[in-house]
Amino acid sequence: MKVQVAIIGAGPSGLLLGAMLHKAGIDAVIIEQRSADYVLGRIRAGVLEQGTVEMLDHVGVRERMFKQGLWHDGFEIGYRNSHHRIDLKTLTGGKRVMVYGQTEVTHDLMDARSAAGAKTVYEAEDVAVHDFDTGKPRVTWRKDGAEHELSCDFIAGCDGFHGVSRRSVPENAIQTYEKVYPFGWLGVLSDTPPVSHELIYSNHARGFALCSMRSMTRSRYYIQCPLDDKVENWSDDAFFDELRRRLDPAAAEAMVTGPSIEKSIAPLRSFVAEPMRFSSLFLAGDAAHIVPPTGAKGLNLAASDVHYLANGLIEHYQEGSAAGLDAYSERCLRRVWKAVRFSWWFTSLMHKFPDDTGFGQKIQEAEIGYLLGSTAASTALAENYVGLPLEV
Ligand code: APR
Ligand code: PHB
Repeated sequence: MKVQVAIIGAGPSGLLLGAMLHKAGIDAVIIEQRSADYVLGRIRAGVLEQGTVEMLDHVGVRERMFKQGLWHDGFEIGYRNSHHRIDLKTLTGGKRVMVYGQTEVTHDLMDARSAAGAKTVYEAEDVAVHDFDTGKPRVTWRKDGAEHELSCDFIAGCDGFHGVSRRSVPENAIQTYEKVYPFGWLGVLSDTPPVSHELIYSNHARGFALCSMRSMTRSRYYIQCPLDDKVENWSDDAFFDELRRRLDPAAAEAMVTGPSIEKSIAPLRSFVAEPMRFSSLFLAGDAAHIVPPTGAKGLNLAASDVHYLANGLIEHYQEGSAAGLDAYSERCLRRVWKAVRFSWWFTSLMHKFPDDTGFGQKIQEAEIGYLLGSTAASTALAENYVGLPLEV
């Protein structure tokens, strides 16, 4: 079997790339190790930058997103028994974000892909990438006991942090940068109305808390927890009691609780692999970088990688130009590092650090005071939160 582009992984990166290539008439197959249901069962963040919304609209995945997605013009910083609004729209000259779950984005992209008749292989075992430095790359896998091989011009490694693509690059060709944070997030999803119509990011002496949502009837909440904490340690009541303690009295009062429909703990990490291209192999999304969820940048960074990669491939096939593909890694990494910096900064500002001697807390207090009192500082937060512009 031969195809122009082999895409490894059917997460948001792989599916969005598949959609952009399909729209441009470039032939691609997606090879995914899990089942579609498994992929859809993962609960991830839910804030889309306007640029991400535009990309999804561009590939025709718009109906449910515009019907169910919630435009947010601002969010709240909870601090010292009160909350303070960051007016994204005013501070950025009209930009805003859309709250629409990553699960829904994935769902919409999967539906559009099957409606278009584009091929995705699910439940592929032992996926391996070969010969990407020779100009004749191949992908192999096993399914239902049979061996399969796909020849291609390019491989897009969209297979997430634990995928095979990045691991297949020789160690001396790749440099990685990593920071692991000394806490995790315990998240709960519940069919209850959200505390407020906007998100609340709360800095509290007991630890960070976030009130988010999926719709006006479904809430998503997080509290900072120790790295070695276990979901089993948290009944729903214990979770909501702790969440309430970390919110200002008005928000705590407004909270409606109900049984959790999902509860999980995720560690927080910043990670970047450089470069993002190895001859015919391109890494995109979580395969190349991870950010802590505090700035909600993971999915949006995946979308900007895919934008650069799809445009590079389109230039290659339609104009015979290598310029976009040659610029891919540097272009992505410039934007990636800015989002890594922002996510690290927002994480550092909002969490309680277990080894802090008191100095860190004083710096946080000074910085939050500055942030809330200075239009310049709030603008810097707002313009990063809505997403920095894409380079052309
Ligand atoms: N072979 C084939 N598929 C694989 C392999 C493999 N060896 N390893 C992993 N995969 C699949 C995973 O099962 C998953 O479906 O690759 C997909 C990667 O998807 P994600 O982890 O969601 O990564 P990505 O598509 O880059 O999405 C970007 O944004 O909000 C953030 O971290 C969040 O997932 C999100 C990310
Ligand atoms: C979420 O709704 O899951 C969410 C929202 C904002 C974040 C992180 C997660 O910063």
